Amino acid sequence: MTLRTRFTEMFGIEHPIVQGGMMWVGRAELAAAVSNAGGLGILTALTQPTPDALRAEIERCRSMTSKPFGVNLTILPSVNPPPYAEYRKAIIDSDIKIVETAGHKPQEHVDDFKAHGIKVVHKCTAVRHALSAERMGVDAISIDGFECAGHPGEDDIPGLVLIPAAADQVKIPMIASGGFGDGRGLAAALALGAEGINMGTRFCATVEAPIHDNIKQLLVANDERGTNLIFRSLKNTGRVGKNSVSDKVVEILKNPGAKFEDIAHLVKGAQGRVALETGDVDAGLIWAGQVQGLIHDVPTCAELIQRIVRDAEAIIRQRLAGLIQ
Ligand SMILES: Cc1cc2nc3c(=O)[nH]c(=O)nc-3n(C[C@H](O)[C@H](O)[C@H](O)COP(=O)(O)O)c2cc1C
Repeated sequence: MTLRTRFTEMFGIEHPIVQGGMMWVGRAELAAAVSNAGGLGILTALTQPTPDALRAEIERCRSMTSKPFGVNLTILPSVNPPPYAEYRKAIIDSDIKIVETAGHKPQEHVDDFKAHGIKVVHKCTAVRHALSAERMGVDAISIDGFECAGHPGEDDIPGLVLIPAAADQVKIPMIASGGFGDGRGLAAALALGAEGINMGTRFCATVEAPIHDNIKQLLVANDERGTNLIFRSLKNTGRVGKNSVSDKVVEILKNPGAKFEDIAHLVKGAQGRVALETGDVDAGLIWAGQVQGLIHDVPTCAELIQRIVRDAEAIIRQRLAGLIQ
């Protein structure tokens, strides 16, 4: 049995499960493992130091899977922005067919990807942003609830409300993101009107995730309270794993008038990378969501995806169908 949705049909994948773009984690090992397991694996463009390195990573991923995979391009406001147009060109030149965009003002990127026949999934955190992306011409939406790792936005609407609210208005295929980690979540997402799920944190705790085992064990050990919301006062909220660094950021930003410069030394991406690669859980920020409370093991991507789909099918066929008298 398989779960067929408009999303699986549109993207030519077997299971309605996507691995979202993840800085330092979305490399070929993980994306290929997810795609080989019938999901949609996604490389993270900006994890590569240059557009040429991204070209090489795409080829490396191709050597590991013949299944469809995508590339994430995250557009964040920055004092020294990366050369987005050059990364975009590397994606287009490499004949990639699926892109996940995320972040601010994706129009110019979406236009160029669409002009080259690339399917675009835009990830966003509000119904109004989903509708504006739909008007922009993207092919699908990934809607990220307040539970998610990364940037949940400033509206604080959890998936239980955000997903059906978006499903009521968005016409193109939409997948649900934030807080998903098991078959119950997949069945719930489908019931709420989504056509699949996107997962980040859960895929970090897999055999193939290219990060240190200490980090995977931290995700297993933590419960659903193991996150901090940082940058709230800067209106650029991020949900990260609770550790001494994110605790300190929260504490400093509590001071009235505290500015980004006061915490800049703590939140450098390079330090987060050190944490992920060396396993020093207090070296920097570790992005992780509330779904940590549902993570109890470190399976392969194939075991995880099969388990999620099998459990979702059992819930739909047995538990839910059995309730109807
Ligand atoms: C370690 C990590 C790094 C992430 N980096 C990015 C990123 O660079 N770009 C992006 O669009 N989303 C990023 N995300 C968000 C995920 O793609 C996804 O939307 C999110 O993790 C979903 O919530 P979940 O963690 O509850 O599954 C990241 C998430 C994690 C856990």
